[in-house]
Order: sequence, then structure tokens, then C-alpha cells
Amino acid sequence: MSLLDDIKDLRATATEALGKVDIADTLEAWRIKYLGTKGLVKAAMQSLRNAPREEKPALGQAANQLKVALTEAFEAQKKKLGSLGSKAKKTAPKLDVTLPGNRPKIGHAHIISQTVSEICEICARMGFEVAYGPEVEDELHNFIDLNIPESHPARDPLDNFYLYPGAMLRSQTSTVQIRVMENTEPPVRIIAPGRVYRPDTVDATHSFMFHQVEGLYVDEGVTMSDLKTTLDQFCKAYFGHEVETRFRPSFFPFTEPSAEIDVLFHYKDGSTRWIELGGCGMVDPNVLKAVNYDPEKYTGFAFGLGIERMVMRRHNIPDIRFLYESDVRFLHQF
Ligand code: DAH
Repeated sequence: MSLLDDIKDLRATATEALGKVDIADTLEAWRIKYLGTKGLVKAAMQSLRNAPREEKPALGQAANQLKVALTEAFEAQKKKLGSLGSKAKKTAPKLDVTLPGNRPKIGHAHIISQTVSEICEICARMGFEVAYGPEVEDELHNFIDLNIPESHPARDPLDNFYLYPGAMLRSQTSTVQIRVMENTEPPVRIIAPGRVYRPDTVDATHSFMFHQVEGLYVDEGVTMSDLKTTLDQFCKAYFGHEVETRFRPSFFPFTEPSAEIDVLFHYKDGSTRWIELGGCGMVDPNVLKAVNYDPEKYTGFAFGLGIERMVMRRHNIPDIRFLYESDVRFLHQF
């Protein structure tokens, strides 16, 4: 095929392609392909350099005509599309909604945050409001008003993060019980989720920072059976209705009597295991007195549960450190 035929062909295909252009984007693509500085017209002109001398004038003329014709056609098409305006866009190929989409890589709430939200929802259904307290605390709220004497091992300076004498990172969310009661007249029914800090050596089940959720219900006539029902319902709502709960006698300075709550899990292989979730009990009259509640008139229950424990148990997470390492391969599973 001669170079002249090539030029004719190029003109035909370019003109045909231009006829099909119906939106501004494809028009620009067409321009780049044919009239661009690295386009086919330019390439055709360059290829003429090697043509036999006697053919050059005719070829040169044809090539120039090609360029002029295509440029004019381009301008004409551009005008036409411009005047079509939005109508041209409407006739553009529609979005094919059956194609699989590109899922945008957006983040989501951390599993601990998701769990806190879920706990708040479950407790809201049982009439609990959510309260928060500061993570930097004083000894009055972390110990003294909670009936924890100076001699108690929990007050050992080596077992707490002191910032300076009298100020510390709270070691338990029980502080929020005091903060709520000193500002509210009974009845109170709150939960307080949040971070707590203890200088524990980090291993698969310990961290120097973890999360607890505190519960407190004070009113006239609150009893231990209210506590047991509330926690049993709570555990069934969070872990599933097949779990059982049990209460073991225990001791905490701020409750009397005190108990620890365990949850019984049934495993696929038929085995069962009791897992300790936290402490609870009837609010000690000394705590009520500390916040000027009349212990002759009011009684209450309180509980404090470990959130990491709950999360790890429900999602089968073997090591607490996974929860804090920000490894997206772990986090995206939840
Ligand atoms: N504050 C206790 C702890 O961190 C847990 C606890 C036990 C909270 C009994 C309570 C309670 O409200 O009644 O070990």
C-alpha cells in the first residue's frame, strides 16, 4: 500500500471516529490521538521524509490537506458538542450499575469502640444512662470516697500511675460512681465506660491501659436480685442467650456484700468453661454517706466489668496486644 493510500485511510478512520465522538472527554481523546504532538497525523507527516523525492510534493500536499481537514472537522465537532451542552451528556453512555464497584478504603470504629457502643445500647434498653468521668483523678474519687483505706494494697503507689502527689491516672471506672452521685440526687442509674490505667507488665492478658464499664443503680428498695437479673440479662444480650451466669462471693471495699460474676461458655467440642467478667455488689453504706445519700433510705448495686475480656471472649482473640497494635489486617476483621 502506498503512502498516499495510508494518508487516505487515516483520513477515513479519523473522520469516522470523530463522527462517533459525543462527549467532551472523548473529543479530547480523539484530538490527542490524531492531532496531538505525538498523534497519528504528525507521525504520517514524519514518515514522508523517507519517501522517494518525486513523490514528495503530492504526498506533502495530501498530508497537509489531511491535517487541515481534520482540524476543521475537529473544530466543527467541538462546536456541535458545545451547542448540545447538557443534552450531549445525557446521551453519553450510562453508568453500568451491574459492574462490581470499587469499594473505597474508608476506616471504621475500632472493635473496642464498637463494643462500648453496643454495651451502651444494651444498658440503655434497661434504663441506664451513660456517664463519663476524667481519666486524671484525685485520691478522693479513686480511693477515699470509695471506702478504700490508706492501708489497702490497691493504694500502693507502685500499683498506680501517680502524676504527682494526689493526682493519678484512674485505676478503675468506679470513680465515676462518686462523680455522678456527688452531683445528682437519687435515683441514679448509669453506666460509665472508659479507660483505666495500672502499671501491669504487658502480656497476653494484661496491659497498662484497658477499658472497664461501671454500672450503678441507687434508689429506694434496690436489692441484690436486681443486680443479678440485670447482669444476667446483660450477659445474655451481649454473649447470646445460651450463656449462664454465676455469682461468687468476693470482697471489694465499696460494696457489701460483694461478688464476682462469671459467665459459662459452651464450646463446639462440648466442653464448658467459666470466665470471670468482673466485680459487683451492693453499694457500701459508707460510699452512700460519702456522697451525702441517706443509707437508711437508699440502697444500690454497682458493677465493674472488663471490656477487653468481653471482646476477647466473644471474638476469640487470644492476645490483648492485638487490640492496641493498630494492625489493619487484624482490625478490618471487625
Ligand atoms: N473497680 C473494681 C476493679 O477495678 C471492679 C468493681 C468491683 C466495680 C465491684 C464495682 C463493684 O462497681 O461493685 O477491680
